[in-house]
Amino acid sequence: MDPAAQGRGIGHALLAQVEAEAQARGGRLLLIETSGSSLYAPARRLYETGGYRCEAVIHDFYAPGDDLIVFGKDLTPNALAWPP
Ligand SMILES: CC(C)(COP(=O)(O)OP(=O)(O)OC[C@H]1O[C@@H](n2cnc3c(N)ncnc32)[C@H](O)[C@@H]1OP(=O)(O)O)[C@@H](O)C(=O)NCCC(=O)NCCS
Repeated sequence: MDPAAQGRGIGHALLAQVEAEAQARGGRLLLIETSGSSLYAPARRLYETGGYRCEAVIHDFYAPGDDLIVFGKDLTPNALAWPP
């Protein structure tokens, strides 16, 4: 996202569109990979507030001290009642 446009809800809107597209194509699980570094704190916040949970951490994956974090969200109809 262009830094000038961040924090306006566009990230949430894009993610919701991706989820709708994936669900329409029969997808049941959406996985997102990101970094555990402070640079990616806004991204992790986007996923966490969007109903994603941390499914896996691979420590020191990108570099020493920079973990790979896998977030996941269940797209099946009963699980999609988010926010609760
Ligand atoms: C992650 C990113 C795509 C979010 O896009 P966005 O349009 O700013 O997202 P939103 O406006 O929908 O905000 C999503 C959440 O992130 C938070 N956020 C957004 N920009 C932020 C910033 N600069 N600092 C701290 N938090 C921030 C918002 O507070 C929001 O949390 P909320 O749900 O509690 O309100 C954008 O910050 C970005 O492009 N970052 C750099 C690249 C990157 O990290 N890509 C993802 C790689 S996995």
